[in-house]
Amino acid sequence: MKGIILAGGTGSRLFPLTLVASKQLQPVYDKPMIYYALTTLIEGGIREICLISTPGELPRFRQLLGDGRAWGLAIEYREQARPAGIAQAFLIAESFVGTGPVALILGDNIFYGSDTLQRAVAEFRSGATLFGYHVQDPERYGVIEFDTDGRAISIEEKPRTPKSNYAVPGFYIYDNSVLAICRGLQPSARGELEITDVNSTYLRRGDLRVQRLPRGFAWLDAGTSSSLHEASAYVQTIEKRAGIKIGCPEEAAYAAGFLSLSELAALTRQMPRCEYRDYLENQVLAEAQPSIPTP
Ligand code: TTP
Repeated sequence: MKGIILAGGTGSRLFPLTLVASKQLQPVYDKPMIYYALTTLIEGGIREICLISTPGELPRFRQLLGDGRAWGLAIEYREQARPAGIAQAFLIAESFVGTGPVALILGDNIFYGSDTLQRAVAEFRSGATLFGYHVQDPERYGVIEFDTDGRAISIEEKPRTPKSNYAVPGFYIYDNSVLAICRGLQPSARGELEITDVNSTYLRRGDLRVQRLPRGFAWLDAGTSSSLHEASAYVQTIEKRAGIKIGCPEEAAYAAGFLSLSELAALTRQMPRCEYRDYLENQVLAEAQPSIPTP
């Protein structure tokens, strides 16, 4: 499966932070926001990735992530001239997607707490797979209505009167017909190619699956000053308490088999002395070394 990270947009709600760097390059506790989405794809076993951003911001993403080879990935870049909708990502990345299935993740979404997304990628066969996450403020999102058997029966974009508390997070898996569906889309009243229209098409065809994310799973979107701060606080709390890192592409690439132990060690040695390097050396590499039996 191939993966797209959509990391354009205007980031107007984070002004003035976004005057000098896009939202997805802002720090979420100890690393750039984009690391979290990238790590989610890597954990799903996805190594061919296309990052889409604005013409102005793309050079900075290239500077940060390069061609991905250091992590055993292949990262390509494409421009979105203006934020004309999430579904436009598939038209921009059409030649990258080719003939197979594709997962799309929004660059400001952070997922943590179970392997539901990764299993869904591994088990994906056809149609579309979305996720449902229980939120307090569903009117800000695409909202899924379920029938009494728990099957999705409608999806509405930012409804005034939501039919449930289940929002659609920014992680979607589609078969290749997503390309044809997007080619046939018309812009909505707000001038965007709506991902909700793509999902409704799959729903009408009986080709949509929605998996509810478990209670306790964290889906954070870091689009406002408050939610950015809360995401940082969440990551710091888990990392400090458990002595782990969330959103560490090096660790995920090693775990996925994209990097060998010696490649990970070499990558780590190139880093300056810092807490991030200490983590990779003292936790990830130390735990991966074959243990030496004590006499
Ligand atoms: P939003 O948070 O809805 O928009 P934004 O990032 O422009 O922020 P603001 O509302 O504060 O101006 O977008 C959600 C994510 O999707 C975000 O990561 C940006 C991305 N996006 C694109 O890259 N291109 C698009 O055309 C759209 C609609 C969103």
